[in-house]
Amino acid sequence: MREKLVAGNWKMHGGLAENKVLLDGVVAGLSGLTGAKAAVCVPYPYLFQAQSVLQNSPVAWGAQNLSEHAKGAYTGEVSASMLKDFGCQYVIIGHSERRSLYGETDAVVAHKYKWAHAAGLVPILCVGESLAERENGVTEQVVARQLDAVVHAVGAAGMKGAVIAYEPVWAIGTGKTATPEQAQAVHAFIRGRLREVDAELAEKTVIQYGGSVKAANAAELFGMPDIDGGLIGGASLHAEDFVAICRAAQAS
Ligand code: 13P
Repeated sequence: MREKLVAGNWKMHGGLAENKVLLDGVVAGLSGLTGAKAAVCVPYPYLFQAQSVLQNSPVAWGAQNLSEHAKGAYTGEVSASMLKDFGCQYVIIGHSERRSLYGETDAVVAHKYKWAHAAGLVPILCVGESLAERENGVTEQVVARQLDAVVHAVGAAGMKGAVIAYEPVWAIGTGKTATPEQAQAVHAFIRGRLREVDAELAEKTVIQYGGSVKAANAAELFGMPDIDGGLIGGASLHAEDFVAICRAAQAS
């Protein structure tokens, strides 16, 4: 049985005072959480704050990106081992905003994945098609290409324990959620692709859905057989909403 994981992606939002209110609210709302996992991926400067507030709580924390290098003269970059220093369990890799706005290629994503995995972080590997790609009928090719780039780089052993987040770009921040059936079809495709690598890996890998997940639609999405939780943007900035989504994962 796969345990569902709901992770908040705060993106570039937050501030010390508002984070405190949000984190305290999430911890209070999720006390005693069992049967599902919860995490928040915060901007780098707030990792220490997340660690301070969340340690000894049922909520884990992580980052939204990391360097493709281990260390060295890379001004402004943050390495996997630095994230470990702040107790991160998770790191989002290859989010569509990183791919489209910062030019991250599949090769860069694979490098980042390797360092994250080597450091003992759980990579949350994001894949997903644009609206044009969906309309052109190439969703599966795009998702397969993004997934294969990492699988080929790290092999079955390197995929063990990873989380994959299917985030159709057209559903991110738009209020347009993929229907549970649309999402399920792609999740089943991803799991099938993993099965070609290793059957046990396929059964154990947590595949999250991301893209306009809200308290109102979470239960329906999480009720699908291959949807193992969510990667939540906007709704993760409101404690009540995020808690409700985590509770939906727990109940499904
Ligand atoms: P929204 O939930 O705001 O659509 O964002 C999804 C996302 O990009 C999570 O990584």
